[in-house]
Amino acid sequence: MKVTVVGAGNVGATCADVLASREIANEIILLDIKEGFAEGKALDIWQTSPINLYDSRTIGSTNDYGMTKDSDVVVITSGLPRKPGMSRDDLIATNAGIVKTVTENVIKYSPNAIIVVVSNPLDVMTYCAYLNAKIDSKKVFGMAGVLDTARYRAFLATELNVSPKDIQAVLMGGHGDTMVPLPRYTTVAGIPVTELIAEDKLNEIIERTKFGGGEIVKLLGTSAWYAPGAAAAQMVEAIVRDQKRIFPVCAWLTGEYGLKDIYLGVPVVLGKNGIERIIELDLNAAERTLLNESAEAVKSVMDVLDNMNANA
Ligand code: LAC
Repeated sequence: MKVTVVGAGNVGATCADVLASREIANEIILLDIKEGFAEGKALDIWQTSPINLYDSRTIGSTNDYGMTKDSDVVVITSGLPRKPGMSRDDLIATNAGIVKTVTENVIKYSPNAIIVVVSNPLDVMTYCAYLNAKIDSKKVFGMAGVLDTARYRAFLATELNVSPKDIQAVLMGGHGDTMVPLPRYTTVAGIPVTELIAEDKLNEIIERTKFGGGEIVKLLGTSAWYAPGAAAAQMVEAIVRDQKRIFPVCAWLTGEYGLKDIYLGVPVVLGKNGIERIIELDLNAAERTLLNESAEAVKSVMDVLDNMNANA
């Protein structure tokens, strides 16, 4: 299996490192526009192989898409990260141009690839990749829910002082402040979370989750990378190993949840064909309202992209 990671910044390099050290693909191409940068990161990652005992090979490339030829999966992390005070949506103009060029190059050399988008603003950059890839939407989707649920689950693990392994959760909506963690679908080793935690504490955790990315931007002066990189790698693993794992993924909706022509986070089954199917939960009225609000927020940023394209 061959996986390309475009963008050798913190998120891309972390993703490549996880893909290599877990032997998720035997060939990993790390590509970046900055001269020598991906080569340097790839060499450093490859030099962990005798220590971490794996044989997946990571190879760097300065913008030579020929080296990405026939990739099975391509992860797009290119674009600027947030600075303190910026919302993910502030990145749209710059990152849309970058994601468009990257996607066109990727598809030229790997027309059959499955594309996982990580660039921000996530939902709209996934839409941007879809518009430019011109392939089945089941093969173009975004990484957000795996990261956002990971944050939610990690906060719950700390609060309850239990293993994060035992915490399962579904979270829907856009990758922004309107995301919708779903307590009704959150369990701890099969026990509904609401039986283990007070409602106000749970609400605090939900609020913290919604702003989980911003919390890290404030602390570090730039976006997170360990959890985003690992989350993208976990999605790649589900695809290349055809695991049929159920993850919240930013997917193109065609009527599911009463929404269409929008990229939004929903639970899906991931396997070798990409999104094998979208799971439709029977949401209650309150959950549905929150999901619709999130959809509206995402749609308004998608409109910004559509208007940019119309005026281009
Ligand atoms: C975050 C960025 C990667 O949520 O969107 O940390």
